[in-house]
Amino acid sequence: MAYETIIVEIEDYVATIRLNRPEALNALNAKLMDELSRALAEADRSDKVRCMIVTGSEKAFAAGADIKEMSEKSFTDVYLDNLFTGPTEKIMAVRKPIIAAVSGYALGGGCELAMLCDFIIAADTAKFGQPEINLGIVAGIGGTQRLTRFVGKAKAMDMNLTGRFMDAAEAERSGLVSRVVPAAKLMAEATGAAKKIAEKSLLATMVVKEAVNRSYETTLREGLLFERQTFYSLFATEDQKEGMAAFLEKREPQFRDK
Ligand code: HXC
Repeated sequence: MAYETIIVEIEDYVATIRLNRPEALNALNAKLMDELSRALAEADRSDKVRCMIVTGSEKAFAAGADIKEMSEKSFTDVYLDNLFTGPTEKIMAVRKPIIAAVSGYALGGGCELAMLCDFIIAADTAKFGQPEINLGIVAGIGGTQRLTRFVGKAKAMDMNLTGRFMDAAEAERSGLVSRVVPAAKLMAEATGAAKKIAEKSLLATMVVKEAVNRSYETTLREGLLFERQTFYSLFATEDQKEGMAAFLEKREPQFRDK
């Protein structure tokens, strides 16, 4: 499918989706959000994809929602339009793992988009922030909610109230990102991680995603019960037999997603 604001490549069961609005540092306009969410949904349905990467350019993952596009809108416009809600819900419905590979600015909606992915690998040049406060607004797709759960209240308040940026080292220290690598190695690192995930049983990787995300939605007790049931249920799969047999026979497993 042809897109205008993103570039999609599929190789070795990994779909890499590159945000591509260089003239606006990949600012998220309605078209980009629509195309991105459609591309992710399509990859989720495709037999050729087992893991996805969302990335931007060297200078910017995404510098936030498109301020030019938002500036003329009224409350009625954004409320009736349910601005950003449709694409966000669509991304949240993706069941295969999504890695955000972040280089440069991930600000406002850009930081929130990265957090909508399942984990973030950052270049040492990455800068995260929720600078909406400088525009007289607040975060709209997770900057006060996901960020608080990921880095805690103190840093989430600091970032949302002052609008300051967090560099890659602080982001790793705070638990916002899983790894930091030199900028030149970002895509190799993200692709390597995605390929590793793509080799596993798809059933198991989808269950991991569902179960870890569940931990943010429910109590520990309920989460543990959910995990236990999914753990038991995977014993009904051929991949469990294959994975354990391969270990015992000292060979690589051949998962068939069954
Ligand atoms: C529209 C943007 C943009 C944005 C940058 N540009 N960010 N356009 N929306 N969010 C455009 C600039 O206008 C400029 O276009 C070009 O990209 C290059 O940006 P510069 O500012 O010239 O680059 P630089 O000096 O390097 O500064 C980089 C920057 C700065 C620090 C990232 O651009 C910046 O502060 N951007 C805004 C960040 C922000 O406030 N984000 C939150 C948005 S609100 P021209 O045509 O002038 O060359 C938000 C709400 C989310 O995200 C709610 C739900 C999704």
